[in-house]
Amino acid sequence: MPIVERLEHLPNSTLKISEEYREFLPSIILNSLNDPLLRSITPRDAERFRDTESALAFLGDRTVYTISNEDTLAGLIWFSEKKWPLNLPNSPRFTYAIRMYKPFRGAGLAAPFSTKVVEDFTRKHLGEPLWLETNSDNATAIHLYEKTGWRKRGEYKPEEHRTRLVMTYGLEDYKTI
Ligand SMILES: CC(C)(COP(=O)(O)OP(=O)(O)OC[C@H]1O[C@@H](n2cnc3c(N)ncnc32)[C@H](O)[C@@H]1OP(=O)(O)O)[C@@H](O)C(=O)NCCC(=O)NCCS
Repeated sequence: MPIVERLEHLPNSTLKISEEYREFLPSIILNSLNDPLLRSITPRDAERFRDTESALAFLGDRTVYTISNEDTLAGLIWFSEKKWPLNLPNSPRFTYAIRMYKPFRGAGLAAPFSTKVVEDFTRKHLGEPLWLETNSDNATAIHLYEKTGWRKRGEYKPEEHRTRLVMTYGLEDYKTI
């Protein structure tokens, strides 16, 4: 897969963003099963990525980007086609999700990674808007999203789950033909 971007302005110029993820499946699985923050914030990852077969089945249906440092995975973003859970019209066609993995989490990489990937994906999809959801109390993620141009759109409360916040990217500027 082509490299989308080398982050040469960052201190470690070996970081690269690409659409290659298969070599990182073992790392995605290990992180999803063992990282306490991921287990608490996004427990479904331990199910999605419980083994290679499940991870391939989940990611195989999606557009996936990685950021990595030589051979080590730092983060993952994926897009899929899905309608939002809000009881409102005009759901964007694609949803977005991000994970940063230790020891790269908290290092200021998430905003440049996300900005490059969202630019690349939306350029390839002719400026289509995006949506995402996160726990309404996930302050770190909400800070990242607002900083990178996402806007709060609405909240909902699934059964047996914390309140979820839905945010959109590019919806305000989007015009149907
Ligand atoms: C959300 C996530 C992707 C962000 O990546 P990260 O590597 O932690 O983020 P960065 O270090 O690049 O940036 C974090 C920013 O949040 C800020 N931040 C950290 N903790 C915060 C808090 N409690 N409240 C508000 N902002 C906070 C930091 O100051 C920094 O902002 P700045 O760049 O403007 O100074 C990452 O924490 C993660 O994968 N979390 C677990 C999974 C998750 O929450 N995914 C998204 C929702 S499902």
